[in-house]
Amino acid sequence: MDPTRVHITTYGCQMNRLDADLVAEVLRASGAEVVAAPPQANVLLFLTCSVRGHAEDRVFSNIGALGGRKRRRPGLVIGLLGCMAQQFGEEIRRRAPLVDIVCAPGRLAELPDLIARARAGAEATALDPRRRQAGAEAFAALDEALDGVEVRRLLGRPSAREAYVTVMRGCDNFCTYCVVPNVRGPERSRPPHSVLEEVRRLVGQGARRITFLGQAVNQYAAEEDGRRWDLADLVAGAAETPDLARLSFITSHPRAMTERLAAVFRDVPKVVPYLHMPAQSGSDAVLARMNRGYTAGEYEQRVARVRTLRPGIAIESDFIVGFPGETAEDFEATVDLARRVRFAGAFVFKYSPRPGTPAAERYRDDVPAAEKRRRHSRLLALVKEIAREQRSVPSHL
Ligand code: 5AD
Ligand code: SF4
Repeated sequence: MDPTRVHITTYGCQMNRLDADLVAEVLRASGAEVVAAPPQANVLLFLTCSVRGHAEDRVFSNIGALGGRKRRRPGLVIGLLGCMAQQFGEEIRRRAPLVDIVCAPGRLAELPDLIARARAGAEATALDPRRRQAGAEAFAALDEALDGVEVRRLLGRPSAREAYVTVMRGCDNFCTYCVVPNVRGPERSRPPHSVLEEVRRLVGQGARRITFLGQAVNQYAAEEDGRRWDLADLVAGAAETPDLARLSFITSHPRAMTERLAAVFRDVPKVVPYLHMPAQSGSDAVLARMNRGYTAGEYEQRVARVRTLRPGIAIESDFIVGFPGETAEDFEATVDLARRVRFAGAFVFKYSPRPGTPAAERYRDDVPAAEKRRRHSRLLALVKEIAREQRSVPSHL
């Protein structure tokens, strides 16, 4: 049989991009070659995202388009990995019949074995059987496997001086629209020594700027040798690494923006003046239905506190428009929040009901598509304009 040559296509968030690098390392360690262009590969892997329906549709259409290639090359193996695998389960094989490998985010460390099975024509499915109820143990194996991986992820990056480190996986927030708690499992924080060792190793390999990643990164909480660590401790610990110049973390949940964490922006000069802290909406009623755990007023107070501690900090947000029951007034409250806070940038998404989420089960998707589009373009135009105005202000940073 030909040697295994793998190509990985990644969709979705920064966590997925980092997982793609980790998967590549796991595969290289198993003797496979990771190639840059799909035609060179005999195994095509798609690391997928389920956060919005649009991302899923793109994956289905991209995989569907491979029919011709697969007929010409019967040995070609196609793998669908990540959040969509867990979200659809076995049904994925009906929706995407060309797929040979199905692998959930919690099972990525098993890929070398799955690829070997698929190339031998055998069944290759690795799902977490009872979804979230599988519990933390099921995910512990993944965490352990990935924590041990010697990363060379600086190679091939736009800037070899930049690196990402996952500090926590999963999410326990259960924002009602969000599929992440179902597919990525319960929240687990990596042991601090493992994170700090990885930081030192990456800096040793030439990294100067490090970004900590987690779905709700500021909910990082670990205990080691009788000491409790939160994100502020971890950031302060990493900042002691000589030769590390800049440090940042994404994504922060407003609820967990504590005074201790806000203070790192003042006390740790290596921390970059940048905070990605999604507001999602400016309406208290919508925020409550989203189960976000704060009001628009509380959100603004946290922004104000961070800005007092680090004047000029760039704060970015995500917004969802057209959430079930979002009235014209609710939407205006979001526009007002965006105007008052003056974000340095923001991602704006149209609400997309995700199967299995509380919002999809509880609420009717009642904002018409045309109205969602209208709100989306209006808010996007506003946040772009505000971002542009800020960039034209000379910055002393
Ligand atoms: N519909 C629309 N946007 C969503 N997001 C998460 N789930 C949904 C959904 N069901 C957005 C949120 C989150 C970002 C990663 O994606 O704004 O912060
Ligand atoms: Fe989803 Fe909310 Fe967790 Fe973010 S914090 S991953 S939006 S449940």
